[in-house]
Amino acid sequence: MPEQVRDGFAAPLPRAGRDAADVYEAYRRLIAPYGVGNRHPAFLGWVHGGGTAIGMLAELLAGGLNANCGGRDHAPIACERQVVRWAAEMLGLPAESSGLVVSGTSTANLIAVLVARTAALGADVRRAGVREARLTAYASAAAHLCVARALDMAGLGSDALRLLPCDASGRMDLDALEGAIVSDRAAGLVPFLVVGTAGSVDIGATDDLAALARCCARHSLWFHVDAAFGAIAMLSPALRPLFAGMERADSVAFDFHKWAQVPYDAGCIVVRDAAAQRAAFAREATYLSRHARGLAAGEPWPVDLGPELSRGFRALKVWMTLSVHGADRIGQVAEHCCKLARRLAEAIAASPALELAAPVALNIVCFRYAAGDDATQAAIAADLQEAGGVVLSTTILQGRTVLRAAFVNHRTEASDVDAIVPAVVAAGDSDGVPPDHTRQLGF
Ligand SMILES: Cc1ncc(COP(=O)(O)O)c(C=O)c1O
Repeated sequence: MPEQVRDGFAAPLPRAGRDAADVYEAYRRLIAPYGVGNRHPAFLGWVHGGGTAIGMLAELLAGGLNANCGGRDHAPIACERQVVRWAAEMLGLPAESSGLVVSGTSTANLIAVLVARTAALGADVRRAGVREARLTAYASAAAHLCVARALDMAGLGSDALRLLPCDASGRMDLDALEGAIVSDRAAGLVPFLVVGTAGSVDIGATDDLAALARCCARHSLWFHVDAAFGAIAMLSPALRPLFAGMERADSVAFDFHKWAQVPYDAGCIVVRDAAAQRAAFAREATYLSRHARGLAAGEPWPVDLGPELSRGFRALKVWMTLSVHGADRIGQVAEHCCKLARRLAEAIAASPALELAAPVALNIVCFRYAAGDDATQAAIAADLQEAGGVVLSTTILQGRTVLRAAFVNHRTEASDVDAIVPAVVAAGDSDGVPPDHTRQLGF
């Protein structure tokens, strides 16, 4: 983004209105060309979905409808319930599960922690707080930062999350989990929650969910799965077996805005025990009284199941995307992305200048420019981003900075993959030389 574009956002509060055509022109000049670029087929940074035209149309319709989906008895709420039922079907959870379409997996994980906390300590915790109860939760060291933040926001403290070591393939060490639960109990702490990861953010690893489910059953713990992007891979018959055990979860958090290609933002929480979710959030208020008929009918309302009252009609873009493209097609996109990830891994293995930095279990490839240090890997990522040809991000594995390609976008093709190795090698070989901005593709 050029400096003069940034300066375009320095104007004070507009007191008087302007012609919409002028404002649209400003949008075209200042905003549209300078997005992060995740619609582009060669955008492989972080874990970003590509969006769809039907999702865009749904956003337009939802904006026009201007529905408030905190509660009341209207079709947008029925549509959201149907999306949650579809999600439960995809995950193998019972049709009576409850849930919400939320902003993303960060919010969905927070809701899960709050439901699990209330289930562990009883509804009184909502009035009295956790008091002296020292709840502990367990996840692998590969868990996304939002899991620790959820414990922090729930008032349990992020230290309450035990981060357990992973094996060589990035899956939680089950002996370490068992040992931590037993020793915490012996020390008078209250283990209450295990968070499995289905598709880890760094390398796409999935914990042994069936083993985690058995462990939770043995110790009477809440079993939650952070399946931010992994869940959608369950729509592929070829990938589904990787997630065996998901169907035994007490709750699952995931995103439609990643692999399901729904425009931002659209995450989802599904909770097996509908009463448990309601017990964690429902509260009476005179101005939200429920009635047997009229607009105030139709319990439970979304406000009974999560933290928001006013909320938009996010479910419409999910409903339309799934209805137009079909769940099978979305599963094929996930499968295609995993094939592209393997193709890149093979090209890296065949290049003497590059080295793979982690096994490729799903759609994420981590690698290094072999002759470079950590700063070189970061410089390569930044050079490529600024040049606009291919976008990679970085992460840190075993203390070393690595380049990371995450295949999420339905538009990415084999030809995009084949351009990556030459681009990275050229950027690495010319470390310190400013990128060629003339190649900018104009996302
Ligand atoms: C495994 C995992 N959990 C949670 C999140 C956070 O999801 P969101 O950005 O939708 O809040 C991500 C995001 O990439 C993720 O990969």
